[in-house]
Amino acid sequence: MKIGDKHYRSVWVAEDGRTVQILDQTKLPYELEILDLNTVTDAATSIRDMWVRGAPLIGAVAAYGVALAMKKDTSDANLQAAYDELIVTRPTAINLKWALDRICPALKEVDPAERLTAAYALAGEIADEDVQINNQIGENGLKIIREIAAKKQPGETINILTHCNAGWLATVDWGTALSPIYKAYNEGIKVHVWVDETRPRNQGGLTSFELGSHGVPHTLIADNAGGHLMQHGEVDLCIVGTDRTTARGDVCNKIGTYLKALAAKANGVPFYVALPSPTIDWTVWDGVKEIPIEQRDGKEQSHVFGIGPDGTRTWVNTAPEGTTCGNYAFDVTPAEYVTGLITERGVCEASPEGLKALFEK
Ligand code: MRU
Repeated sequence: MKIGDKHYRSVWVAEDGRTVQILDQTKLPYELEILDLNTVTDAATSIRDMWVRGAPLIGAVAAYGVALAMKKDTSDANLQAAYDELIVTRPTAINLKWALDRICPALKEVDPAERLTAAYALAGEIADEDVQINNQIGENGLKIIREIAAKKQPGETINILTHCNAGWLATVDWGTALSPIYKAYNEGIKVHVWVDETRPRNQGGLTSFELGSHGVPHTLIADNAGGHLMQHGEVDLCIVGTDRTTARGDVCNKIGTYLKALAAKANGVPFYVALPSPTIDWTVWDGVKEIPIEQRDGKEQSHVFGIGPDGTRTWVNTAPEGTTCGNYAFDVTPAEYVTGLITERGVCEASPEGLKALFEK
C-alpha cells in the first residue's frame, strides 16, 4: 500500500538480491525507517522485538530469515539451526511455524549448492502468496460490507470497529481485517473505522497511520470504548484479524479481542474474523486450553512509549515503580462468538464444518 506517493510492502528484498528490508514498526507512525536484515539473527531479533509484527508478516520474515541463514552456510545443520533460532521468537502466531515448516523441509530436498537461490525463491513465494490471499480476503469481506450498505440509507456511513493492526503492515500487503475496508473505500462506500488503541503496544496507532495514509475516515478510541459505542448503535460491524484459528473455529488474536466479541454478541453486532489459511492450526481444537499465550515484558504495561517534546523516543512510567505487571499479549475468542470467518476461499461459519467445507482439500 502507499505511504505518500510510494508503494511499499512491509518486507522486500533489496536490489542486491540478498539484503532483506523491512519498515521498523517500532518507529512508525512517527518515523519511516527502513532497516536492513543481513543475518538470520537479524531476522529473529526483528520478530522478537516487534520491529515487524502481525501473524502473516512474522511468517514471511521468518522465511526470509532462513534465506539469510543460507547466505552463510547451506548445510543441513545450518538449516536446522535457522529453524531452531526462528521458531522460538514468538509463541502465539502460528504463521511462524507454518512458514518454517514449509520452507525448511522443501530446502532439505534441494542440493546444498542450489539452496541459497531456492531459499530466496521460496521466501518470495510465501510473501507473494500472502499478498494474493489478502487481496482475496478483501474481495470476500467487501461483499459483507456491500450487504450492510444495501440496508442503509443511500450515502449513510458504515461504522466498522477493528482491534489491533490487521492491516498491510501486519501482512506483506493489503492486510486481512483492513483489506475489505480498503476495497469498500476504493469503490466509494462510505466507511468510518473505530480504531481500538490496543494497549500496551498501541497497534491502533499503526492502524490509524495506515487508514490515514489511504484517506479512510477513522477515529482512534480507548480500548474500553467499544462496548459503549455498540450499545449506542454506533458500530455496524466488527472485523478483526487472527494469530491462530483452531480446527473448530476458535480465534486467538490480540488481547482484548474477546471482550469486543462479547460486547458484539450482547448488542447484536456482527463480529467477523479475517482469516488467511496459513493462520489455521489444524492440530489445535480448543483454543482456550491449547494455544500458548505470549506474555511480554511488564515494562510495556507499566510505561507508555512515545516521542518526547525534544523529539527523542522515551518511555514514561504510568505506574508506581516496581508494580507487578501482567502483560498478556493475546486472548482466545471461542467460535460461538464469531459471526463468520472471512477467508481467501470465501466466508464460512466458525465451526469445524465451516472450515472443512472450504479447506478440505
Ligand atoms: O503482537 P502483534 O502486533 O504481532 O499482534 C498482531 C495481531 O494480533 C493482529 O491482529 C493479528 O496478527 C492479525 S494480523 C493480520
